[in-house]
Amino acid sequence: MHPSVSAETKSNLRRSLATTAHIAGSTHGFYRYPARFHPEIAREIICAFSSKGEWILDPFMGGGTSVIEALTLGRQIVGSDINSLARFVADVRTRPLSTMDKSQIRLWAQRVARELTQEDLSWVPRADIVNLPSEAAIFFSGAIELMRHMFPRRSSFARAVLLRLGQSTIDCRGFNMPYRSHLAKRLPELVEKMISGLDDLVENCRESGTPKNAITGRRLLLHRSAVGLEEDRRIRHIIRRPQLVVTSPPYPGVHVLYHRWQYRGRRETPAPYWIANVADGYGPTYYCGGSRRQNGLRNYFQTITHAFTSIRRIMHPDGRVVQIVGFSDIKSQLPAYLEAMEHAGFRDTRSSELGGEPLQRRVANRRWYANLKGDIDSSTEFLLVHRISR
Ligand SMILES: C[S@@+](CC[C@H](N)C(=O)[O-])C[C@H]1O[C@@H](n2cnc3c(N)ncnc32)[C@H](O)[C@@H]1O
Repeated sequence: MHPSVSAETKSNLRRSLATTAHIAGSTHGFYRYPARFHPEIAREIICAFSSKGEWILDPFMGGGTSVIEALTLGRQIVGSDINSLARFVADVRTRPLSTMDKSQIRLWAQRVARELTQEDLSWVPRADIVNLPSEAAIFFSGAIELMRHMFPRRSSFARAVLLRLGQSTIDCRGFNMPYRSHLAKRLPELVEKMISGLDDLVENCRESGTPKNAITGRRLLLHRSAVGLEEDRRIRHIIRRPQLVVTSPPYPGVHVLYHRWQYRGRRETPAPYWIANVADGYGPTYYCGGSRRQNGLRNYFQTITHAFTSIRRIMHPDGRVVQIVGFSDIKSQLPAYLEAMEHAGFRDTRSSELGGEPLQRRVANRRWYANLKGDIDSSTEFLLVHRISR
């Protein structure tokens, strides 16, 4: 069991919550997963509430910020998410490449840059590609076609490079048409950047005692709901009960577009799913835990209760749940959230363990869904700490 929280730990947590540092380094830059953790916060929580070698759980892992930080700090982690894209991104971010993998990926990028900039191009975009400018549709279809014979580990990395390229050129408010020549120039640059990010991750893991060939064995990444997690055979047989659950679930009444890109900030495209080659097919509320309507909020709190009931059943009886949560209406939803946790069998230990003022964070310029922007309640996020009720 981890002893109570020291004054130094509290001050480190407070400092990490105040960070405004640009998110970079290791493989964090691979994908801007919506509503992601700041890595500094995930790192401080993991340092404060777990020890080297222990298993951690993040049942709403998103793009895997906690997975990267846990591995880098010598922990083992189970990450899980209902979004197939989240699992894909978390996997590529923490899967080392061999020297041969890297050279094959570089060759692919060179070939894409060469073949897809020719004037008399015969590539036709795939029929299922919608709401993309034609130059981008041709480029991304061709680049995917050219990875046809690659090993899965290499093609996954190559797809992740295309995701990053797509996010910076399509999923943005810019009014510049993404021309093939521009995409072709950026591709090899991104390959180099991302290989170097992965090299950093491997080096950081090595420094904390995890050799390159042990990294993938220290994380288990699942594509599934947190509800019913205790019945999943993959986790029942693999992990020791986690002492720490570090996570950030969807926020009540706050709609984040987890599953679409918005070309020019408007037209929604499912491009990330066909680029990553993972299953799509759900609407936005599926990933947000419910709609913003009264009914949706009821479903949301029920899902939280069910999910944390499952989580309680697999975690260590002395462990902690440390989570970051925001609210569209703090006054009514923070108490409702704490009540949902209580129904799941947890007690709020913020005042007994952390004392003083609540630990919270202001987040500027979040890309919340359409009409929810600016200085609203959901720009404040809370750090909640819970332990299992006796
Ligand atoms: C706030 S995001 C997590 C972001 C993450 N901390 C990161 O750094 O990228 C919340 C995540 O919860 C996932 N989610 C929603 N409902 C879920 C459920 N019932 N079980 C598991 N994951 C769920 C969403 O797909 C989304 O990725």
